[in-house]
Amino acid sequence: MPQPRPYYAENSFSLTFYDIMTACAGDQLNGEIGFYVQLAGKQPARILELGCGTGRVTAALAERGHTICGVDLSAPMLEQARLKLANNVALGKVHFLQADMCDFSLDGRFDLIIAPFYSFSHLLTMEQRRAGLARIAEHMAPDGRAVLHLIKRDTLATTLDVSELTNSRTTIPLPSHQAILTAQSIGHSADHAAQRCDISVKYQLMDNNRRIVAESVEQLTYGWIEADQIAPLLKDTGLHLTRRETGFIEGQHGNEDIWVLAHKDPNA
Ligand SMILES: C[S@@+](CC[C@H](N)C(=O)[O-])C[C@H]1O[C@@H](n2cnc3c(N)ncnc32)[C@H](O)[C@@H]1O
Repeated sequence: MPQPRPYYAENSFSLTFYDIMTACAGDQLNGEIGFYVQLAGKQPARILELGCGTGRVTAALAERGHTICGVDLSAPMLEQARLKLANNVALGKVHFLQADMCDFSLDGRFDLIIAPFYSFSHLLTMEQRRAGLARIAEHMAPDGRAVLHLIKRDTLATTLDVSELTNSRTTIPLPSHQAILTAQSIGHSADHAAQRCDISVKYQLMDNNRRIVAESVEQLTYGWIEADQIAPLLKDTGLHLTRRETGFIEGQHGNEDIWVLAHKDPNA
């Protein structure tokens, strides 16, 4: 098997087809944009997005009148985001910064800080998570809120199940390319002590006769955090948990882990 390429690298399939694949993500993102819009409240709110990727959420929030700064480590993901916004009326409301969400500094404070669709779960150590939360605390307005959409260990465990893996070939039709993209988990390794897992995903692009045109094996790495590990990190960074949800739609139980954070009341 060829050495997997990192996820979201230049010319990777995970980057090129990110929006198409995310559109097929299923129920887990139902209500996502509405959830962020409701928390943003007043218009225009100042929003900071950590791990903004291709600008999927960035564009949706800017189109609703908010000003938004998108931070991402990956230059090619940001390039996609800039292309997406290039002809968008909301362009003037958006600013992008290539940086690590654990190590950046921006002027001003934000009403809402979000790390959508598992961006924060790419942080693999407690030190990184503590640094990420410290950047959130520094950049959040006094009455601001932050939302972290995290991947759960159970979700990763399901993905890692070998019998599931053999059945997990997902086929995604590509209207503009008149071709088929398939994604298949072909390998995994979970380190339970370090609370991280690496998943190798094989992508194949096929023509209408199902002949393989191109393929790529890419490695996706996530870390997970347990409930009892959250409190000390929040205490260290002066934040507190105001809500924890399992899905974006009120009253609907899902498999997500969504934290809503605020500054800790110094008098509490
Ligand atoms: C699953 S994508 C989510 C993109 C976007 N927020 C969305 O919801 O579509 C995760 C993004 O986090 C970015 N990322 C990973 N680690 C990061 C870090 N330490 N600092 C900033 N961005 C990071 C990746 O480059 C990738 O674009």
